[in-house]
Amino acid sequence: MIHNQIKFRGLKTTLSTFLSILFLSISIHSFSQTIPSDEAAVAAGKKLFGLNCKSCHALNKKLIGPALGGVTAKYDASWLIKWIRNNEELRASGDAQAIAVYEQFGKQQMNVFTSLSDEDILNILAYTNAKEPSDPAKGKIEVDPKNPTSNADSSSFNIILGVILVVLLLVIAVLILLTTVLLKTLRKKEEDEELDEIDTEFINNKTSLLDLIKNPIFIGVGGFLSTLVVLYLIITKVLYGVGVSQGYAPEQPIAFSHKIHAGQYGIDCQYCHTGVRKSKNANIPSPNICMNCHAQIKTDSPEIKKIHKAIGYVITDKENNIGEYTGETHPIEWVRIHNLPDLAYFNHSQHVQVAGLACETCHGEIKEMDKVYQYAPLTMGWCINCHRETNVNAKGNEYYDKLLHIHEEKNADEPMKVEDIGGLECAKCHY
Ligand code: HEC
Ligand code: HEC
Ligand code: HEC
Ligand code: HEC
Ligand code: HEC
Ligand code: HEC
Repeated sequence: MIHNQIKFRGLKTTLSTFLSILFLSISIHSFSQTIPSDEAAVAAGKKLFGLNCKSCHALNKKLIGPALGGVTAKYDASWLIKWIRNNEELRASGDAQAIAVYEQFGKQQMNVFTSLSDEDILNILAYTNAKEPSDPAKGKIEVDPKNPTSNADSSSFNIILGVILVVLLLVIAVLILLTTVLLKTLRKKEEDEELDEIDTEFINNKTSLLDLIKNPIFIGVGGFLSTLVVLYLIITKVLYGVGVSQGYAPEQPIAFSHKIHAGQYGIDCQYCHTGVRKSKNANIPSPNICMNCHAQIKTDSPEIKKIHKAIGYVITDKENNIGEYTGETHPIEWVRIHNLPDLAYFNHSQHVQVAGLACETCHGEIKEMDKVYQYAPLTMGWCINCHRETNVNAKGNEYYDKLLHIHEEKNADEPMKVEDIGGLECAKCHY
């Protein structure tokens, strides 16, 4: 009789341990990525694509980079996320597929997009998926079979998880079957009154599945994991968002459009933001600069009249577009969009002139914006991440010659990052 009990206890513990493992593997699995296909995701992806990728990629033809229509049929999502976020890092890690892509397309450099979240990238991929793939077979990468791709890691990880899941489910099915059979025999014995008291109590007390779920191991593991997930969501979605004004796009007093001026008419950023290469501030242009053109262009427009009012200009001869300055000015009250707190120091010339970074890296595709919005989070983490990942543009800069020499002696193959020249020191960014 005691045998039955022992068998039973053993079964119960095994079953609950398996259930915990099952729960664990399901929760790990739910973190791996699938490409969404709903309209909202496609629309969001289209917008991000326009801002970040359009300058080099189209869906159905080659621009600077290859066509991206149907690219999800060529690679799996987790590899694409890694590639799109930081192709340099992926190549540096020795990923054979990444190196093959780089070499196939003439070793052209693609930007890194460390500010895009997994969700952003999945949305972009949803957008590339939404249209029929142009010709997915074309340009397919042959990966050297002698050089297994690390890309296989993530897909084989998923396969392994899948297999574990199936095996666990089978084991549970068998266990439940065994339990039922054992139970039946015991019940039968009970009817025949062959059981002693302890066994009878045991059957009546502890044989339901509910008991398993009430098992302390199961509750412990499940509770721990759920707490982790909730904490993770609170920290990333709520706490990290405090004080971050990414996406801020206030109404401006004049409907000035960068899309028209910097995009359509191709006016250089520096023509208006005169300080950006030589000083800390990029500065906002005074109406004098606008007047270089708008003394003549669109003088009838109510928006342009606002410029005239600001600088105190009245048109005296409508036919010939001649006017005069009255001296009565009303400064335009542009609403400031990007604004670091006073405790932080940021210098444009260091980043634009010395480091050679494009405005778009930090401000997004301004040339496509009718209304400027804050593209980057502008958090300390954002600054630091970039300083960890970006190589110092040291070529042809005598100032860096010695540093570069010392750096190369110490770590031969790692390029010199901003981190290595002190870009993570508190006092560099804090007064
Ligand atoms: C500065 C130009 C540039 C920008 C901007 C750019 N790419 Fe690329 N991309 C390239 C080049 C060039 C390649 C070819 C690989 C190489 O030479 O590194 C490439 C390759 C790719 C590939 C692999 C395609 C294949 O068929 O093998 C994907 C996927 C990709 N880019 C996605 C994106 C996404 C998504 C964005 C926007 C978030 C983006 N790229 C922005 C230039 C760019
Ligand atoms: C014809 C003049 C002109 C040109 C050219 C121009 N801008 Fe501007 N920019 C302005 C004006 C005026 C504002 C303020 C109104 C606004 O925010 O739209 C501004 C605002 C901005 C802001 C937001 C400033 C803030 O308040 O934080 C950024 C960033 C910016 N411009 C970047 C660029 C970049 C990058 C380019 C080149 C691709 C460019 N601008 C070209 C006139 C210009
Ligand atoms: C280098 C010449 C140039 C400069 C400098 C310039 N603009 Fe313009 N702007 C244009 C052109 C060209 C158009 C498009 C006119 C059209 O649509 O026919 C335009 C259009 C506009 C419009 C839209 C007018 C409408 O009703 O369609 C506004 C508003 C405007 N500019 C504001 C400004 C402001 C503010 C500045 C100064 C910060 C400025 N522009 C500087 C050339 C310039
Ligand atoms: C490395 C990132 C980075 C790059 C590259 C960059 N900016 Fe900025 N930009 C910023 C930050 C950060 C601010 C906010 C500065 C502050 O509040 O002190 C800013 C602010 C601005 C402003 C608002 C006025 C000001 O100076 O605070 C303008 C205009 C602007 N940037 C234009 C440009 C233009 C034009 C370029 C390219 C020539 C450019 N930026 C390149 C990060 C960058
Ligand atoms: C897109 C990448 C990028 C971002 C974002 C960025 N930086 Fe930088 N930063 C650089 C690079 C590259 C250099 C190296 C420039 C050089 O060669 O001197 C640099 C240099 C600096 C330096 C000088 C470091 C030194 O040791 O001389 C300071 C200070 C600085 N950045 C502050 C900031 C702050 C503050 C922010 C955020 C508001 C920021 N940076 C965001 C790329 C970035
Ligand atoms: C590359 C530039 C950079 C470096 C290096 C840096 N910071 Fe920051 N830090 C910033 C920026 C930009 C902000 C403001 C961002 C924000 O408000 O989210 C900030 C914000 C902070 C704040 C928050 C202040 C507040 O009011 O919330 C603290 C505290 C801080 N930094 C401490 C440090 C310490 C300590 C170090 C050195 C270990 C350091 N920082 C190094 C750029 C930097």
